[in-house]
Amino acid sequence: MKKRIADLIRPHILKMKPYSSARSEYTGHDGIFLDANENSIGSVCGTLHNRYPDPLQEKVKIKLATLEKINANQIFIGNGSDECIDVLIRAFCEPKEDSILICPPVFSMYEHAAHAQNIDIKEILLLDNFQLNVAEILKEIEVNTSLKIIFICTPNNPTGNTIQAKDIEKILAQFSGIVLIDEAYQDFSEEESWTQLLNKFPNLAVIKTFSKAFGMADARVGMLFASEEIIHYMNVIKLPYNVNQYSQLLTLEALENIDKKQAFIRTLNEGRSYFLSALQEIDFVEKVYPSDANFILFKVADANALYQYLIAHKIIVRNRNTAPLLQGCLRVSIGTKTENERFIEVLKNYV
Ligand SMILES: Cc1ncc(COP(=O)(O)O)c(C=O)c1O
Repeated sequence: MKKRIADLIRPHILKMKPYSSARSEYTGHDGIFLDANENSIGSVCGTLHNRYPDPLQEKVKIKLATLEKINANQIFIGNGSDECIDVLIRAFCEPKEDSILICPPVFSMYEHAAHAQNIDIKEILLLDNFQLNVAEILKEIEVNTSLKIIFICTPNNPTGNTIQAKDIEKILAQFSGIVLIDEAYQDFSEEESWTQLLNKFPNLAVIKTFSKAFGMADARVGMLFASEEIIHYMNVIKLPYNVNQYSQLLTLEALENIDKKQAFIRTLNEGRSYFLSALQEIDFVEKVYPSDANFILFKVADANALYQYLIAHKIIVRNRNTAPLLQGCLRVSIGTKTENERFIEVLKNYV
């Protein structure tokens, strides 16, 4: 039988109340604000920085809710999606008792955040085609009673492929714990977002970010979408003012410029097609993996040597040579047209 979210949350958190900050106790906008020990006179820097930001980022959530066709109380905003991952783990996983499941090669933050909390990590490698090993995952679900969160990244970083929806659905249906789907790169793919299935699967959580297609990586804003109940517990344990005022304002501006984001996606996806065909024409490139993201993984005989050669030409890519299944692989992000052409030109001169 499926567990209730309250049965999955760490027991002591069930009894906690959200941190009560000045800005959450009085949420009005008019008046003389003498409640938060701020500097009412001003700021030492030119513009005003003296007031604490909205702890729950309401304006951003209202806008996002319309865009994602979801309720505002189903949204958690984090200091990057990195924070969403960290808070989710801290809400559900008891150190030294609970575990998470990851499917390497995959984004390393899940493992890092779990390690930091002394949470056990179960690894089930992707298959050779970079799809989930569903049979092994289902077996693990059956035997591992400490398993709280399964992390799935689609399109997957660093392989670039979309994870088959039918496999994810099987896991969602079988698993009592939380299935976290990381859609950091979903904007670059043709696939539907999993947010549309949140109401069907109460144990589903979906992560997105402003760092990729929106081009706002330095603002550090990520989002987690889930049931109202999951979001409630995440809000209970988050730091009070986790997203600063400037990032909130920039995010509101970003949400007014969705057409610009779409234009970026078109251009980056054109760059991806260019890389795909240009890389395939280079003799020493043994394999170019299809990608639904803003990067491409490719394989050569000696990834370390090629990586060093590229560095010598001031081109920095990610060496994934030591990750499981990725011997000989480098991951290259799609750049500007000039950067892409330069990358291919330098590669062609490699002997
Ligand atoms: C799959 C994936 N998820 C999440 C993140 C983190 O994004 P953010 O900048 O929102 O913390 C990254 C960053 O590269 C990523 O590759």
